[in-house]
Amino acid sequence: MRVFVTGGTGLIGSAVVAELLGNGHTVLALARSEASALAVKAVGVEPLRGDLADLDTLRAGAAAADGVIHLAFGNDFSSPDALARCVAEESAALAALGERLLGSDRPFVTVSGTPRVPGRASTEADPPPTDGPVAGRGRAVMSVLDLASRGVRSSAVRMPRTVHNHGTGGFAGMLTDIARRTGVAGYPGDGAQRWPAVHALDAAVLFRLALERAPGGTAWHAVADEGDAVRDIAAVIGRRLGLPVERVPEESYGPLGPIFATDQPSSSSHTRQALGWQPTHPNLLEDLENIQP
Ligand SMILES: NC(=O)c1ccc[n+]([C@@H]2O[C@H](COP(=O)([O-])OP(=O)(O)OC[C@H]3O[C@@H](n4cnc5c(N)ncnc54)[C@H](OP(=O)(O)O)[C@@H]3O)[C@@H](O)[C@H]2O)c1
Repeated sequence: MRVFVTGGTGLIGSAVVAELLGNGHTVLALARSEASALAVKAVGVEPLRGDLADLDTLRAGAAAADGVIHLAFGNDFSSPDALARCVAEESAALAALGERLLGSDRPFVTVSGTPRVPGRASTEADPPPTDGPVAGRGRAVMSVLDLASRGVRSSAVRMPRTVHNHGTGGFAGMLTDIARRTGVAGYPGDGAQRWPAVHALDAAVLFRLALERAPGGTAWHAVADEGDAVRDIAAVIGRRLGLPVERVPEESYGPLGPIFATDQPSSSSHTRQALGWQPTHPNLLEDLENIQP
């Protein structure tokens, strides 16, 4: 397939691009800068210059492809307003991509997040969050899945809180960055709360499987570790950086504080059984051993 990919230079997207190329697909990648265009060209991918806000460019990319994988996101967590702008930009982009695919029966795979369900691990059957700072992302993904009734083979690959590679990425990567900045390997709450995780190279395989095989309107969980206790994550970060490991007030994490403090394990039993997905790369605590002081 010729696949239009947004976010193809990111931590997850670069792994997805490599997975696609390694399995006989070709890729057209959205590139918002010359540096990003050069980066994708270097791995044998055709760039399509444009930003997530350039809706005509997104439509052109979707029209030129047999399928679409969407991963780009502004990732600006600096304030509630900044985050809301990123969510609005992505929602408009998903609507433009979906509109161009109507009636085509082509696959449209979008990234999403594993939901949180109090008292148990969330499953693929649970709906995405409809409250909190990223509720708009959940609504946009539901709109994409609804396109299944309008001739789009749409699916969502839900990411756990940490997608990692070489010890960086996701929530655990943010805790590492904060530890370097503050001199404390901190965690909110009592640290017993669990975050699910996956290696980016394993997540990439699931994006390819969803592109190739997922029926329309389905959601999948790229979860390798059902839940790592946050104090265990902080303990590895502290040891690798030679810093004290301490409880830190939830408020110091800004809009992410309440999310960081929540127990949110997630299961991928259905995904493994239905799509034959099997993670093979190091788990989060093993991968964090790659952190360099
Ligand atoms: N990493 C995780 O642990 C994790 C966990 C849950 C969900 N996710 C979600 O997974 C997706 C990918 O995450 P990631 O960790 O791979 O992100 P990342 O490394 O920050 O990469 C973001 C990608 O999006 C592109 N991008 C950002 N804003 C753009 C814009 N306005 N126009 C065009 N391209 C834009 C970037 O392009 P440039 O080359 O220009 O930088 C880059 O390719 C995101 O939706 C993220 O929220 C990630």
